[in-house]
Amino acid sequence: MLEIKNLKVSVDEKQILNGVNLSVGPSETHILMGKNGSGKSSLLSTIVKNPKYKIDGGDICFCGESIAEKSVCDVARAGIFLSFQNAPAISGLSISMLLKNSVNSVRKARGEQVLTAPEYFKLAQEYCNLLEIPNDWLKRQVNLGFSGGEKKKISMLEMLFLKPKLALLDEPDSGVDVDAVNIIAKAIDYLKPFGTSFLIVSHYEKLISLSKPNFVHIMQDGKIVESGDVTLAQKILKNGFGDDEK
Ligand SMILES: Nc1ncnc2c1ncn2[C@@H]1O[C@H](COP(=O)(O)OP(=O)(O)OP(=O)(O)O)[C@@H](O)[C@H]1O
Ligand SMILES: [Mg+2]
Repeated sequence: MLEIKNLKVSVDEKQILNGVNLSVGPSETHILMGKNGSGKSSLLSTIVKNPKYKIDGGDICFCGESIAEKSVCDVARAGIFLSFQNAPAISGLSISMLLKNSVNSVRKARGEQVLTAPEYFKLAQEYCNLLEIPNDWLKRQVNLGFSGGEKKKISMLEMLFLKPKLALLDEPDSGVDVDAVNIIAKAIDYLKPFGTSFLIVSHYEKLISLSKPNFVHIMQDGKIVESGDVTLAQKILKNGFGDDEK
């Protein structure tokens, strides 16, 4: 589904990714770990085609097609979703408007019917219940005045509506209380039967174990230097990245 080959990326002439290789198959869950500044968020921003991140070499293929020349809108319509490490606030835009417009744009691109108002309200009710979000949040402006943990739940609400083929979650559990981590894990579980693949940046044991990853990768200096199963994450959580990191 996602094939990244020898990806080299720079921002403002500074090389940040130095030959990333990564393959994510359908319905797989991958955890990405690495020291601060190792390039995890940059990798996710590059996959969603944030125009600041310039691809200098290598390629990113999604569902068999290169997305290196595609726009952020193209990749969103193709079914890639990013939950930001630090989600921006959008004043003047309600969460409801964002959800309706983004889901209908993706549905149109897939050749599906747009959501009617009653269908939207039914889904909003279901997902707010699942995420323990009060209904009145829907009328509030996107991420404006919300706490860090509340913003992470709003991202999960967007993800449930969009039902992406590939969800990139950048530290969905940082700054989140114990109960909310369980709720984020529930959102991930909810999407798994739809065939969604996940690439999740996390350094917390709870979400890593609850998300039942197939693979764990370690990033260092803009490269994936080690991959393994969940025992690799357990080793890092116990011993740190240390000097023996490859
Ligand atoms: N827009 C930018 N301008 C300059 N440098 C940048 C930019 N974006 C990223 N970088 C640099 O690239 C490196 C990788 O940053 P990135 O945010 O990808 O790291 P990270 O692994 O996500 O770290 P963290 O665990 O702290 O979130 C850092 O040294 C960062 O300063
Ligand atoms: Mg980051």
